[in-house]
Amino acid sequence: MISHETIEKNIGLLIVLTILVVSIGGLVQIVPLFFQTSTTKPVADLKPYTALQLSGRDIYIREGCVGCHSQMVRPFRAETERYGHYSVAGEYVYDRPFLWGSKRTGPDLQRVGGRYSDAWHRAHLLNPRDVVPESNMPAYPWLDRPLKDADIQQKMRTLNWVGTGYSDKEIADAPAELEGKTELDALIAYLQVLGTHAPKN
Ligand code: HEC
Repeated sequence: MISHETIEKNIGLLIVLTILVVSIGGLVQIVPLFFQTSTTKPVADLKPYTALQLSGRDIYIREGCVGCHSQMVRPFRAETERYGHYSVAGEYVYDRPFLWGSKRTGPDLQRVGGRYSDAWHRAHLLNPRDVVPESNMPAYPWLDRPLKDADIQQKMRTLNWVGTGYSDKEIADAPAELEGKTELDALIAYLQVLGTHAPKN
């Protein structure tokens, strides 16, 4: 039997045993999540992002919105009263990559869908100060330009590869859905769907 003292005085052995313990602990915590319905099944009403929303989501990523906005309502009263139902794992089944974020310079956006009109979002994104005078969010005036997302079908096929489940028709219709839209239209379509499938209390 190796004594605790021997392990602590032998750095090589300590490293090996630490790695062993952390690996077992990790496996025990992580592996079951792959098989639990609560983490792998979408919540009721959750649908994969439409082509326009998906394009908007990529703009959200490109513009770095995630650097100031989280998308995860924690189960604390202060948060649920402000934002709505706390987030559950099944809401993120189609989020690849997830955009939980870790910084809230601005408010959480997980429940923002439907809270404001499209016109409000348009004004806010073009110049936040027009609708929220004290805002320090940057303006994104360049988003009012034609949406060019030549890879949309390829993106949808790639997402299908990891199980999103777009139909052939949805993929075929995608370019037509983006036709004539601006980047703002796509980003707003994405913001407006966030949290609309939130669990009901
Ligand atoms: C530098 C930090 C910062 C960045 C980057 C940023 N925001 Fe904000 N955002 C804020 C702040 C602060 C507020 C609160 C004031 C306001 O409403 O303008 C806010 C508010 C919002 C709101 C209103 C939320 C609510 O519940 O009232 C939305 C929607 C929003 N931001 C979307 C975006 C999007 C989309 C992007 C990327 C294009 C983005 N933000 C980038 C800081 C930021």
